[in-house]
Amino acid sequence: MLALRPFSPNDIPAVAGIVRESLRENYPATIYVDIHKWWRDGFIVAETEGRIIGFIAGVSNAPQNARILMLAVLEPYRKRGIGSTLMDTFLQQCALRAMRTVELEVRVSNGNAIQFYKRYGFQIAGTLSRFYTDGEDGYKMIRHL
Ligand SMILES: CC(C)(COP(=O)(O)OP(=O)(O)OC[C@H]1O[C@@H](n2cnc3c(N)ncnc32)[C@H](O)[C@@H]1OP(=O)(O)O)[C@@H](O)C(=O)NCCC(=O)NCCS
Repeated sequence: MLALRPFSPNDIPAVAGIVRESLRENYPATIYVDIHKWWRDGFIVAETEGRIIGFIAGVSNAPQNARILMLAVLEPYRKRGIGSTLMDTFLQQCALRAMRTVELEVRVSNGNAIQFYKRYGFQIAGTLSRFYTDGEDGYKMIRHL
């Protein structure tokens, strides 16, 4: 059974593991603590049988604007609606905070995620040249609420 709850600092090892596996990034633990401090309700984990299998983390980077920093679900648990449940819950938090726009960045090669975001009404608003540390370009995507 799937349960969603706010992130807690005890979740850092599990979340960092998902980031390594699914986003191929290795961030210092402090980054998760900082995101948590910026907007507690915007950092949500999905758990099944006591194991964290996905999460979404966002911040508010300008008045009435939210930015999704990370969204990932462990590979064996994808295409079961967990990413959508995380996104729906995040968008509810945005509505509660009277956000007007949500933005994010995605690798231009990440067709799956781009399709997922388009289904949610995000539109490509521009290309970010060499946005990622390995030199890949990113798309900026924006959704109006
Ligand atoms: C993007 C990501 C978070 C989506 O998570 P997910 O749990 O697979 O998301 P969902 O299951 O809600 O939706 C994924 C697709 O499966 C479909 N789906 C959902 N439940 C389904 C089911 N029971 N049977 C078949 N398909 C299903 C959805 O319609 C959706 O299709 P779409 O992508 O064409 O819109 C996941 O692919 C991921 O972690 N990718 C790697 C990390 C990444 O790229 N993150 C984004 C970086 S910007």
